[in-house]
This record gives sequence, C-alpha cells and structure tokens, in this order.
Amino acid sequence: MVKFTDIAMMGFSEGDVVESILTTLSKEGQPNAAPMGVWVEANNQLFIRPYDGTQTRQNLEFCSEAVMNITSDPRFFFVTAFKGTQRSSVQIEFEPSNKVKPPRIKGMPSYVEVTVKPRATKSDTPFHEFTCQVQHVEVFAPFPMVHSRARCAAIECVIHASRVQALHKTDVDLTRKLVYQITELQSFVDRIAPQSSAAMVIHDIMILVSKWSR
Ligand SMILES: Cc1cc2nc3c(=O)[nH]c(=O)nc-3n(C[C@H](O)[C@H](O)[C@H](O)COP(=O)(O)O)c2cc1C
Repeated sequence: MVKFTDIAMMGFSEGDVVESILTTLSKEGQPNAAPMGVWVEANNQLFIRPYDGTQTRQNLEFCSEAVMNITSDPRFFFVTAFKGTQRSSVQIEFEPSNKVKPPRIKGMPSYVEVTVKPRATKSDTPFHEFTCQVQHVEVFAPFPMVHSRARCAAIECVIHASRVQALHKTDVDLTRKLVYQITELQSFVDRIAPQSSAAMVIHDIMILVSKWSR
C-alpha cells in the first residue's frame, strides 16, 4: 500500500477537491474515461462522487477498481466528458495499468490506481460515494507544471458545460447562468491567450452548449 505522503506531494491536500480523469471498466470489459472530482478528507481518505446516470457509477458497481489519470490539459477533460460528440486535437488511447484491471490513458503525467468501496450516502442525493484506497502511484512528469489561468478556465468551462448537458431540459434558469459563466470565461481566455489550446477547447464547448440551449 502506498503511503498518503506520496499523493500529498502531487497536490492531494486535506479538505480540497482535485480533478482527475477516472478510468473504469464496464461489465463487458469496455474501458471508460470520465472527468471526476476526488475529495480529500481529514483522515487522509479519498472519495469520489459519480452521479447516478454516469457510466462511471455503473462500472464501479461491477469492477471496484479505477485509475485516476492526473493531468491539467483541458483537452483531455473535454474529450472524456463529451465522448463522441466533438472534434478534438487529442485522442484517448488506453494502456495496461500496474495493479488494477481498468487501463490508464496513455501519456498522462501521473496515475493513481485505486480500489473503491461504496459508502453510505443520503437517499435523496443523485450520486453515490465511493471511498478510494490507493494501491499504486506512478509519476512520469519530469518537471513541475506551470500554472495557466487559461487552462484552469477551460477546465472550469468543461465542468459548467457538463452541467448544461445534464440540466438544459429541466432547469432553464441554471442553464442560463452556466452559459453566462462560460461566456465570461471565454472572453477572459480570448483576451489573455487567444491562440492557446484552452481557447480552442472553449470554442468547441460553445458549439455544444449553443446546440443544447437552443
Ligand atoms: C473537472 C470535472 C469534474 C467532474 N466531476 C464529476 C464528479 O465528481 N461526479 C460526476 O458524476 N460527474 C463529474 N463531472 C461530469 C462527468 O465527467 C460527465 O458527466 C461525464 O460525461 C460522465 O461520463 P461517464 O458517463 O462516462 O461516466 C465532472 C466533469 C469535469 C469536467
């Protein structure tokens, strides 16, 4: 078992929620990748909270193992959140993991392989919580990553857009607010980094969002 200090060095910090791309395996053995938050609790416990309608949630019922693929590249968040609905400059390729059955995404800076256990969740919540036990950590990134406001903004837009996709038929007010926030973030990124891959991700998000909110 890997000690918590190993992932603390990667930025998993008590009380925080960090973003990963989680790979899981379906009942039929099909790999799946989706962005998922990872909550870091006081007793060094990690947990995830997949919503009931997600493939990730379904997969974890059949195979209680997963890989947290760690990246700050918004293009990977975008392609894995909206599978098959968009053109993209990155491809998802899988390769075998070390200690768990679900594969990892090729070329990520680091990986955290975990086993998961469901934990009691209030009955009126639309998600289930799973605690995660770290089995193996691999870090390939040779250098620390610079902070990019544009990349952070683009990942925020992917989160907002995933909520628009889920809610646009049932909650017009919230959809409007989320679309407004995406538009604000787009203006910001177009101002500071208009040629960046982050700007391109937001551009592609706007195409999807305008289809859903039409
Ligand atoms: C950064 C980020 C974090 C996300 N965190 C969660 C999460 O914690 N739980 C969840 O159910 N969906 C989360 N989402 C949305 C899912 O990734 C999205 O609904 C996805 O389509 C689910 O894919 P799946 O059906 O293949 O599991 C997040 C999206 C992003 C961009």
